[in-house]
Amino acid sequence: MSEENNQKSYNVKCVVVGDSGTGKTCIAQRLAFNNFTDNPESTIGASNFTYLFEFGDTSLKLEIWDTAGQEAYRSLNRIFYKDAKIAILTYDITNNESFKNISTIWLPQVKECVDQNAILFICGNKCDKYDEEKVKEEDAKAYADTIGAMFAQTSALQGIGIKEMFSAAAKKYLSLIGIDFKEENNTE
Ligand code: GTP
Repeated sequence: MSEENNQKSYNVKCVVVGDSGTGKTCIAQRLAFNNFTDNPESTIGASNFTYLFEFGDTSLKLEIWDTAGQEAYRSLNRIFYKDAKIAILTYDITNNESFKNISTIWLPQVKECVDQNAILFICGNKCDKYDEEKVKEEDAKAYADTIGAMFAQTSALQGIGIKEMFSAAAKKYLSLIGIDFKEENNTE
């Protein structure tokens, strides 16, 4: 924590994981740059983005690690999970397998490596494609509840739910570390 002119500043590391093609890079880019690239190159290793939230007199810099979903690189991901306090587990609402893989692949891998009290977020991306929906929102939400995770549906394409999801995770992190910020001055 650093303090300047009564402004308290914190940093937190957040990893975004999930199957290849679920939209992790697009989600991170939507938050960081408020744009959408139609077909970004598949991530190799990880990419790093930052975003600053200001909640009244408290600021929180999110350091976001967008990891690789491709099978060939999965075992490398553990390197990037170290010290993460927030994990966003992403699936594509039009792809059932990507949802199943959260419980069989991504959650176990994340739990092995991140802080025990890390904030988990289940993120159903591509909600703009609701006519092709394969994973029902209520089922995914029920699953999130069973593992004590937060839940959001997002569209990186349309910019739906992304800032809200990261903001909710950021606020939860601040409350977990006992930081009381003034909600009425909240700019997010
Ligand atoms: P890896 O880097 O291989 O792990 O993939 P990724 O999960 O980072 O996926 P990426 O962000 O590269 O997006 C995969 C594809 O989904 C691209 O063609 C994107 O344009 C598309 N996409 C991402 N987000 C959305 C969304 O919200 N809606 C729609 N319709 N398409 C999306």
